[in-house]
Amino acid sequence: MAGRLPREFIDDLIARIDIVDLIDARVPLKKSGSSFMARCPFHSEKTPSFSVSREKQFYHCFGCGAHGNAVSFLMDYEHQSFPEALETLAALAGIDLPNVTSTSGANPAASLQPVYDILERAAAFYTQQLRDHPSAEQAKAYLLKRGLTGEVARRYRIGYAPPGWNSLPTDWPRAPLIQSGLVIEKDRSCYDRFRQRIMFPIRDRRGRVIGFGGRTLGDETPKYLNSPETEAFKKGKELYGLHELLESNARPRRILVVEGYLDVIALAQHGINDAVATLGTSTSTDHVHQLFRFTREIVFCFDGDTAGYKAAWRALEASLPLLLEGREIRFMHLPAGEDPDSLIRKEGREAFERRIGQASPFSDYLFRTLQADLDLRSVEGRAALQKQARELLDRLPVGVFKELMEQRLSDLTGLVNTTSVSKHPESRARSSSGQARAPSAWRDLVTLLLHRPQLAELISSEIRARLTENPRAGPLIARILEYTDLRATPTPGMLFEYLRETPEGDVARNLMRRGVLTPEEGMEKEFVDALDRVCALVRDERLNQLIDKSKRAQLTDSEREELRKLTGGKS
Ligand code: UTP
Ligand code: MN
Repeated sequence: MAGRLPREFIDDLIARIDIVDLIDARVPLKKSGSSFMARCPFHSEKTPSFSVSREKQFYHCFGCGAHGNAVSFLMDYEHQSFPEALETLAALAGIDLPNVTSTSGANPAASLQPVYDILERAAAFYTQQLRDHPSAEQAKAYLLKRGLTGEVARRYRIGYAPPGWNSLPTDWPRAPLIQSGLVIEKDRSCYDRFRQRIMFPIRDRRGRVIGFGGRTLGDETPKYLNSPETEAFKKGKELYGLHELLESNARPRRILVVEGYLDVIALAQHGINDAVATLGTSTSTDHVHQLFRFTREIVFCFDGDTAGYKAAWRALEASLPLLLEGREIRFMHLPAGEDPDSLIRKEGREAFERRIGQASPFSDYLFRTLQADLDLRSVEGRAALQKQARELLDRLPVGVFKELMEQRLSDLTGLVNTTSVSKHPESRARSSSGQARAPSAWRDLVTLLLHRPQLAELISSEIRARLTENPRAGPLIARILEYTDLRATPTPGMLFEYLRETPEGDVARNLMRRGVLTPEEGMEKEFVDALDRVCALVRDERLNQLIDKSKRAQLTDSEREELRKLTGGKS
């Protein structure tokens, strides 16, 4: 389904579903106080710490931090895509999904079915050709030479496209063959795209074949031929091997990202089953986002050549906006000239695992790479580091990881509070106590609001304006208030859905992960308290700003008046 369902429809759908019934049908729940408990389906544990709340329409695991609403449960537990999860919920609620029409007027999901069907038939055809075609001996010998067994070849459905321009059965329907890219139409005649190649079917998470990569048996170029981008095959989103990996382990402890099809397969051949590959494109934020839905740790493992270093740096940049607490990214360095396939065949599994264990943490890799060309003993070197690192750190989501990265940068440059230097020179004078209090007061405020959206009623319109102006928490708060204005009795589960695809969604998710320990009856008091602390911070910050400015320039009349009020109000 490429089209978008209207927001209101999704909103109503979530409001109709009971998350307790939904989960209970899959993971039996036991009532305990005001919530329902089970052993967490997302990590292994002996005593239940997975809790589902009917009132909040939300689940949360106190052990591993897994959390979300009905939609996220289906996505995480059953690996459904977002549209699939909505389909499931609509079916449960007994309502039809509105017909989402694309520009061509047809339902895109329906019109793609023949393409999926033909790709599936082609995958079966190519594996059968590898078994039976008279010229397949050479292909089999090649796979053997590369150390692959029949078992692994079957797991990845490796096949063979025979030589000849028209090997695919001629009675297959033309249109989907062309639409899928298997057949190329030129001057009103047609020919097979893949000829005399080893075929690697690319599957989406659900296991549907969406395209192919085909390798030559020798040194001809191009070495690999790939299916073109189609509606069914988006290279910037899909990862080779993800389906196979999730089939063997739904919750991998880590996922290794490598460059090539044969790297994934060679690693699996040696017992390392948690590798995926990008499809000849650089790692995108979509890729990283996709992987973090299944694991907490990603290890990038690119070839030990210039292209590999570049690929690693691009992966680093793509990951920046997703580095929330609890997530880990590391970078693995292969010796020059090696790729995972060549290395594991040379060294074996244990040595390779050791290398994975020694992969550099994200922070080390970032700073080490930046520093490589700089001399930090010189002012120029430190200034350049400041500039380059600043630009990257600005893309990290607000949180503890970002704060620690900031700290590391100031340790290296010797600059204090490097955040503000480039953008807001006037805020450098913020008191140190204010800085320590700041994140926690804001965090408490927003976390409580996410866990009990009705608390928004306690925010007066005057305070509202000041909260939403805040550069850090403002956008998320504005988003939450936008929703609470819309809905009379929003549950956290509904709000969560509303935030899902907004730029603030990731920060919200991270805050929800902490859970709140405050009992229901204490939440209002705690919220009012957090609100007070935040207001005090906002006031202090503004005061410092004005004082700072007054030292450097003339204050305007209204600023002077504001300053007078602020200082008057304080003493
Ligand atoms: P590599 O050149 O590293 O190939 O390309 P490889 O996977 O190690 O293959 P072998 O070991 O030589 O057989 C890495 C990936 O880049 C894409 C493919 O996805 C490949 O797996 N690629 C490479 C292409 O799409 N086309 C090419 O011509 C080459
Ligand atoms: Mn290789």
